[in-house]
Amino acid sequence: MFFVTMLQEWRWQLMFKCATAVCFLVSMILLYCLSTVQINFSPPEFPVPLSCAPQSSQHSTQSTTNVLQQDSNICVPKVDIMFMKTHKTGSSTFLNILFRFGEKHKLKFAFPNSQNDFSYPSPFQRTHVHGYKTGMCFNIMCNHMRFNAAEVAKVLPRDTFYITILRDPAELFESSFHYFSRIIPLTWRIPGEHKVAEFLRNPNLYFSSDGFNSFYLKNLLFFDFGQDNTLDPDDPRVEKSIRLIAERFHLVMIMEHFEESLILLKDTLCWEMDDLLFFKLNSRKQSTVSKLSPELRAKALQWNSIDWRLYKHFNLTFWERVEAYGRDRMTKDVAELRRRNAEMVKICIEGGHSVEAGNIHEEAMQPWQPIGEKSIMGYNLNKNVDKAYQELCRKMLTPEIQYLTDLGVNLWLTKLWGHVRNIIDW
Ligand SMILES: *[C@@H]1O[C@H](CO)[C@@H](O)[C@H](O)[C@H]1NC(C)=O
Repeated sequence: MFFVTMLQEWRWQLMFKCATAVCFLVSMILLYCLSTVQINFSPPEFPVPLSCAPQSSQHSTQSTTNVLQQDSNICVPKVDIMFMKTHKTGSSTFLNILFRFGEKHKLKFAFPNSQNDFSYPSPFQRTHVHGYKTGMCFNIMCNHMRFNAAEVAKVLPRDTFYITILRDPAELFESSFHYFSRIIPLTWRIPGEHKVAEFLRNPNLYFSSDGFNSFYLKNLLFFDFGQDNTLDPDDPRVEKSIRLIAERFHLVMIMEHFEESLILLKDTLCWEMDDLLFFKLNSRKQSTVSKLSPELRAKALQWNSIDWRLYKHFNLTFWERVEAYGRDRMTKDVAELRRRNAEMVKICIEGGHSVEAGNIHEEAMQPWQPIGEKSIMGYNLNKNVDKAYQELCRKMLTPEIQYLTDLGVNLWLTKLWGHVRNIIDW
């Protein structure tokens, strides 16, 4: 008798879960359709100002070479910044740096509305910016988007500094595959334990360019820059697009050389070492990272050969810049930044290292997780942080979604999605 009741209860629970899942799916599809409805009328354009830097620093818009003589020792931080946030490239860590810089200088961010990206993967439209009509002077834009140069230029001032970050495409592919596979139906029918390896053995067997979310599986960087990720690698449009990206972006950082990238950024934007302090956010539990064998790595690079071309191009220009900056000077500065960061770890982080989601005490410190697992690590704030450091520590450790909320961004769609996932325990 007891057993039967248990069974019934279990069946009810199962039915309830199924019903919730169905309701959830239907509402997500509806929301998705609503959010992708194309707006056919063209909204009015507003002229963009030359600069949105505070008046007193207008001269910072001139290039440093023709600054007036008496100003030659003054370096005014550049505050008009477009950060093209690419996927799975450590860009969340960089976003935290930008958020703090923006708060420090009271800058105005061009944020999306209702979610944490600009309707990705639709190409960016100026109407995606919250409050596009009012208070037209935006300093910083930095949330995920599919880049669309012409539309971005209609939102930001003309002296905007464009930056972005790239990562080794083989590593990026593995990371993207792992993080997004549950929302890419093409991967669901891949057999076996090691799906990445199986996919790479014969990608064309599983890949189809019109599959839902298929762009996460091929040349994702090139796609994020608004280009066609399925082009033949020898297509002349590939070379042309790379040239356009090189012309548009003033600094292309490399994730594998994050500290060096930040030093170059500091140098070009006239920032201070204090502005560069960071903790690695959103990193994955090591046990969930599958190390690619040399053979698989070669396959991943071949499969993502456009991204590989892109990466090699900007790796070259990156090291040319390091050379121009001075190798020794760079080594010294990177050592200084690492020393400062290590100091901050001691001051701010309990135990001095990241912990799994289940061991994070404060909800405010919980990072966003990929669907179906809790592989993203987070931190606990030290209990007795010196008063002078309390605010900085908290900000440095705050995950992206919580920080966006603190900055006043309305994230109802993102949060609803999070709640539903919790309810159905997905
Ligand atoms: C990047 O550039 C450095 C310095 O020129 C070089 O040693 C390295 O092999 C390059 N890496 C790639 C992936 O091209």
